[in-house]
Amino acid sequence: MKPMKDLNELLVHDLQDLYDAEHQISEALPKMVEAASSEELKTAFQEHLAQTEEHIKRLKEAFRLLNKRAQRVSCKGMQGLIEEGSELMQEQSTGEVLDAALIAAAQKVEHYEMAAYGSARTYAYLLDMKDVAQLLQQTLDEEETTDKSLTQIAGRLNAEAIR
Ligand SMILES: [Fe+2]
Repeated sequence: MKPMKDLNELLVHDLQDLYDAEHQISEALPKMVEAASSEELKTAFQEHLAQTEEHIKRLKEAFRLLNKRAQRVSCKGMQGLIEEGSELMQEQSTGEVLDAALIAAAQKVEHYEMAAYGSARTYAYLLDMKDVAQLLQQTLDEEETTDKSLTQIAGRLNAEAIR
């Protein structure tokens, strides 16, 4: 990675990293839909897949506003999280336990994204790029909503699992 001189370069770098992360997520989610047992969880993952496509579009729009080419820079953090998730799916866990583990894996992904979008949004504000900041805030809001609804689903599924 070449050194970054200013906040503007850091913003572009972080958006490229997120652009790669979102692509990785869009590839992983269909496998999670398949692996989930609960219909409610399958639907939640499916809905988040559709949202993720929108997040990718918003990032493209942010690159356009910044006059930069939409480019992926390998996001190793997301790679690690997704790798752990796919290891889970290869283990022999059964329905409810696997669902609980899948939710935890998905929430780790959401929290990573929330941290990344939050800081990128702040850089954009500081650089007085309000339109970019707004795009990032919109996605951040959706990631937060997804995280909360996963918590609710986990509450219901875990209550069933211990019965
Ligand atoms: Fe996303």
